[in-house]
Amino acid sequence: MTPVNVSSEDLILVTGATGGVGQLTVAKLLEKGLRVRALTRNPTKVQTMFDNRVEIAEGDIRNPDTLHSVVAGVKYIICCTGTTAYPSEKWQFQSSWNWLEALFDSEKLKQKAANSPEKVDAEGVINLVSAAPGDLKRFVFVSSCGILRKNQFPFSLLNAFGVLDAKQKGEEAIVNSGLPYTIIRPVRLIDGPYTSYDLNTLLKASTQAKLGVVIDTGDKVVGQTSRIDVAAACVECLAYTECENKIFELVNQGKRPSVIDWQALFATL
Ligand SMILES: NC(=O)c1ccc[n+]([C@@H]2O[C@H](COP(=O)([O-])OP(=O)(O)OC[C@H]3O[C@@H](n4cnc5c(N)ncnc54)[C@H](OP(=O)(O)O)[C@@H]3O)[C@@H](O)[C@H]2O)c1
Repeated sequence: MTPVNVSSEDLILVTGATGGVGQLTVAKLLEKGLRVRALTRNPTKVQTMFDNRVEIAEGDIRNPDTLHSVVAGVKYIICCTGTTAYPSEKWQFQSSWNWLEALFDSEKLKQKAANSPEKVDAEGVINLVSAAPGDLKRFVFVSSCGILRKNQFPFSLLNAFGVLDAKQKGEEAIVNSGLPYTIIRPVRLIDGPYTSYDLNTLLKASTQAKLGVVIDTGDKVVGQTSRIDVAAACVECLAYTECENKIFELVNQGKRPSVIDWQALFATL
């Protein structure tokens, strides 16, 4: 397995660049000297966050009209967008709601939310797939463990408001698109950044976790996954054709080696 060099000419679009995994992904790409375009709903936030070192494309994955110019000329898309699994301000409620409604009429509640999992992880991802250029070299999607275990605890609880159903729709759209893809399914995410506001902070971000990285398939793993390792996998997988058209789970387990050997991990796929 020989890694393929991702050219510094190739433009890489990161969606969800202001989020936890997204920030680390952008930092990792910049560290490798690669060209990044960040899709954002808030250009000022991105400019400050990445020290003017990324191209900024204003867009919203829920709105297909905003995506044409965002995807123009990109060779890779790394999709790290997401919203909370349970109702929160990130769902952008259009009218008032309460927890009784959440418990007893979750469908009505979801209709009031402009940025629910269904809107972001399903419809948004479908929009992004539809807009992607035909010559895209890879569509990388941060999905979630539990999609094949939605009826088992704790995933049944996680899916109470449909986040796993929505992620599954996103995955299906990608797989059926004919675009080359890699789908990465983390378990519960740990590690920041939660408060990073500049690139140096991001580049210095290091996991406190002492655990190694395990890759598996078939949605069987349990445990936790470091955002730092998810971001690294999103970037490293671009260089390996073995990751093309693959879906895998990523979990932190066992003793952590001094350097994560991504090549060896991907060879197991
Ligand atoms: N949390 C977990 O335990 C867990 C477990 C498994 C998988 N995951 C998945 O892992 C991924 C990364 O998680 P995270 O916690 O690092 O994410 P996060 O911090 O919540 O970031 C989400 C990102 O998505 C962006 N976004 C949300 N709605 C959008 C829209 N309509 N259009 C464009 N961008 C939008 C946000 O932008 P703004 O800055 O504009 O809000 C933000 O950049 C997500 O896909 C999540 O579903 C999470």
